[in-house]
Amino acid sequence: MSNILKRTHMCGELRASDAGSIVILNGWIQKRRNLGGLIFCDLRDKTGICQIVFNEDVPEEVFRRADTLRGEYVVGIKGTVRERESRNKDIPTGDVEILAEDLVIYSEADTTPIYVKDDDNVSEDLRLKYRYLDLRKPGMQANLAFRHKITKITRDFFDQEGFTEVETPMLINPTPEGARDYLVPSRVNPGKFYALPQSPQMFKQILMLAGTDRYMQIVKCFRDEDLRADRQPEFTQIDLEMSFVDQDTILEIQERYLKTIMKEALGVDVETPFPRLTWDEAMSRYGSDKPDTRFGFELKDISGLVKDSEFAVFSGAVAAGGSVRGINISGYSDKFSRKDVDKMQDSVKTFGAKGLAWIRVSEEGFTSSFAKFFAPEEMQRLISAFDGKPNDLILIVASEKDSVVFDSLGFLRRDLAGKLGLLDPRQYNFLWVVDFPMYEWSEEEQRLQAMHHPFTSPKQEDIPLMDTDPLKVKADAYDIVLNGVELGGGSIRIHDRNVQAKVFEILGLPEEEVQKKFGYFLEAFRYGAPPHGGLAYGLDRMVMLLCGRQSIREVIAFPKNQNAQCMMCEAPTPADSGALEELHISVNKAEE
Ligand code: AMO
Repeated sequence: MSNILKRTHMCGELRASDAGSIVILNGWIQKRRNLGGLIFCDLRDKTGICQIVFNEDVPEEVFRRADTLRGEYVVGIKGTVRERESRNKDIPTGDVEILAEDLVIYSEADTTPIYVKDDDNVSEDLRLKYRYLDLRKPGMQANLAFRHKITKITRDFFDQEGFTEVETPMLINPTPEGARDYLVPSRVNPGKFYALPQSPQMFKQILMLAGTDRYMQIVKCFRDEDLRADRQPEFTQIDLEMSFVDQDTILEIQERYLKTIMKEALGVDVETPFPRLTWDEAMSRYGSDKPDTRFGFELKDISGLVKDSEFAVFSGAVAAGGSVRGINISGYSDKFSRKDVDKMQDSVKTFGAKGLAWIRVSEEGFTSSFAKFFAPEEMQRLISAFDGKPNDLILIVASEKDSVVFDSLGFLRRDLAGKLGLLDPRQYNFLWVVDFPMYEWSEEEQRLQAMHHPFTSPKQEDIPLMDTDPLKVKADAYDIVLNGVELGGGSIRIHDRNVQAKVFEILGLPEEEVQKKFGYFLEAFRYGAPPHGGLAYGLDRMVMLLCGRQSIREVIAFPKNQNAQCMMCEAPTPADSGALEELHISVNKAEE
């Protein structure tokens, strides 16, 4: 006979209205207190915690067993729900307790290396090593449940819109998404390697050529890149592609999808259509292609006002083809000390800026790091350009490269808003950034590269610029941004072989290499290609933002740490020599 006490309720669901019911709960012991003739336990499952009382009315052997309970023992308890004398307002079950009559101990537990408590201040590496304990925390279980809810709403929504979920392979050739690939050696093809998908990009486009019409997939992607709070080496995309559509249709469906997610998952109404900013506008107003619009501090271009000044830092930057721009941290000058401004100087240097010029406006006038180079009326003109008022702090960056100015001010804007507590996590500012440049210059590789990926369509009207001024060519590419985080991105794809060939040519890819890498893909376009386009969301990022978490590791059951290691199973590990031999691989020992 099974000794399982079969569960009738979950711990977190009992309320005063259940008083008098006989219930059976299963779960983990959170804590136990013995007050002489009374033993109190908190019992926990994924829904929450419920208080259990053993008094002297229970059979003696049950009472004795209850007295052996320790944290994380796994038990079944049968008893009667009753209203508590002293209520606990902090938990949803705080009005009731279970007067126990039976207890089964399913398993005992050693003292755990971390507390199973949401606000436990333990290092992340230890949390990841003992992830099964970490995941027992109700907050972490709530994150997993919330993630499930998002994927369920997603599948239901796209199902209703006529999308088919199709699985694409994991063992493929490299995908051109800009990161490094994870390679998998092939035993039966000595010396050859698969690459894990950085995205299903080429397969989903081929599905459009195959007539699938509307595709979706919730899919693992793999990118070997530097890790950050919103990046993992393996992460999940909500990947979408549609045939016979233009950009407006794609964005309109996505707005309805996001509206549905916000309503069904959070009960929040968001207004659609979302604002659309061109990439140029996003950069010039916010210094970022993923602007956070929950606060102001917009950038102002003052190049025209300072281009002839004696201050060579300013005039030189303009003369060299760059710009001078600034932000006004209006109303907060008193919140930042001299030392704070020094720190800002250091932070903009990490983006390549040579320094940070500043003006503090006060009732008495102003102080500034560069006042000696300007006549007072010129300074006044600069202050007016920023609508400067007393207690404003104006921060200015000059550089011969616009990208340095944008990166520096874009960073400062958001960093200072964070320090000032202006980032309300319950405000959801969605927006589209559209009209991305087709190409960007890679300093590292000293060549042009595709800003999105090379299958993105250049804007029809910009095709003539491809030969003459490729950096001016804009693409039919768009990103969806939420509160300063890039939630997803996509584009209208090229379906004309000549345009595709031109794009590769500008990227400097020799025909031979194009054939080797993308031959099968380009061939598919010879047999009838519908116009198509799509996008992919980062599911982890979406769940993180909607749960109000700071890192995607909080919403992934078993994430990697900052060094791309699994702290629990210790992957990656050295392969044993037999396996390597079979794979025809020898490891360079000096690099191990
Ligand atoms: P993209 O490279 O912009 O586009 O990726 C789409 C979204 O995936 C998420 N993302 C990541 N999330 C966590 N960790 C990472 N390392 C990581 N890298 C990307 C981001 C990003 O916006 N095939 C195209 C989409 C398309 O054109 O349809 C693509 O992959 O939220």
